[in-house]
Amino acid sequence: MFIYRARVFDTPTDPFSGGSLRSESDVALVVDDGLIIARTDFASATADHPDAEVVDLRAGVLIPGLIDTHVHYPQIRAIGYLGKPLLDWLDHCALPEEAKLGDHDYASALAGEFLTGLTSAGTTSAMVFGSHFATAMDTFFTQAAEVGLRITSGLVTSDTILPEPLLTSVERSVSESQDLIDRWHGKGHLRYAVTPRFSFSAGQELLAAGGQLVADNPGIWVTSHLNENRDEIAGVAEKFPEALDYLDTYDRAGLLNRQTILAHNVHPSDRELARMAEVGAASAHCPTSNSNLASGFFPLRRHIEAGVRVALGSDVGAGTGFSLFKEGVQAYFMQQLDPSGGLPLSSAHLLHLATAAGAEALELSDQVGDLSEGKRFDAAYIQPTEGQPLAVGLEHASSDNDALAKIFAMGTPADIAQVWVDGRLVKG
Ligand code: GUN
Ligand code: ZN
Repeated sequence: MFIYRARVFDTPTDPFSGGSLRSESDVALVVDDGLIIARTDFASATADHPDAEVVDLRAGVLIPGLIDTHVHYPQIRAIGYLGKPLLDWLDHCALPEEAKLGDHDYASALAGEFLTGLTSAGTTSAMVFGSHFATAMDTFFTQAAEVGLRITSGLVTSDTILPEPLLTSVERSVSESQDLIDRWHGKGHLRYAVTPRFSFSAGQELLAAGGQLVADNPGIWVTSHLNENRDEIAGVAEKFPEALDYLDTYDRAGLLNRQTILAHNVHPSDRELARMAEVGAASAHCPTSNSNLASGFFPLRRHIEAGVRVALGSDVGAGTGFSLFKEGVQAYFMQQLDPSGGLPLSSAHLLHLATAAGAEALELSDQVGDLSEGKRFDAAYIQPTEGQPLAVGLEHASSDNDALAKIFAMGTPADIAQVWVDGRLVKG
């Protein structure tokens, strides 16, 4: 048993609907076998649990483990390719790299690098966009299970448009996916997600086969891309003339439900937002990617007003790294700059988007997302090196909200000293 004595910031109440930052400068979290069994003052905690090991974290700030709702495992080495819009970026950067994962040793090396990228950034749960190769997915799930992160992921499927090594057939996609579901879904913290790359690279039958997998395997997830780029959207409209819109290409295939997370949705129609709200599907907002690929301004206000759940995604490798602090501050910048009227965001909004909102999107709110009694101990400890700008900023912050804003503005993975999942140290 452990008592973590810390300055704790979290957002158990949603700032988008009247909630605010919960910040306490000296709180004791009593953790037994990964479960927070008490959140109290230090004197009470030690009186009730005199044998517990005390971990003093008051020199920094403890926050809930970060939750990344859209991040591509095969793209870790593709981060930092600048200057192209989506379809050119895929052709010149992402897809040639992803073709290399047909080699087992290459995929295995990337899986390790990728998981280190997540833990280093304080990310403890993620919806991970997988690889087109079943062997690459198997090695990824194997390594993710060893690290212990809460990962939802699956085999990426496409049967048109992409380079030949990345294409599958309807039959092969079903047999390989079912095999991976049988091997990995529900094992430890792992869950499976049916993952058509996007409707632009999928035929109707391939999408429908994914929907059939969802029907045959209750509890599995769905993830894909939606409304990211105007050329992509026009291409999808041309390929699916019978669909009402881009979202409908997934919906009519049986891929849209409460366990669906769709990345980007930068250019949705009102009908699409209303339909997402109706079924409970979530959008993964990926601000550095939207900026890097010049995809556009994410309509956060329209999502919130329509009642669509939104959480943050890093979208590595179109995004510029694993840090959800960077994504948070970029979301803030873009809402400020949006010529059609963005939503002003506070630091509490940013923390919520990077933690509790992700837990909600991934239907993990009963376990993680904040550091309340009854939750699992998934947490990241921020302790900047003394004398560094973030340490100076935290020391001189005018309020806890200001301190949190400084964490988002200046925090990097180098400032994250320790990370736990389920009470188990995964970094530090
Ligand atoms: N749409 C289809 N594939 C991708 C991808 O790898 N990255 C992004 N940002 N969008 C996509
Ligand atoms: Zn993506």
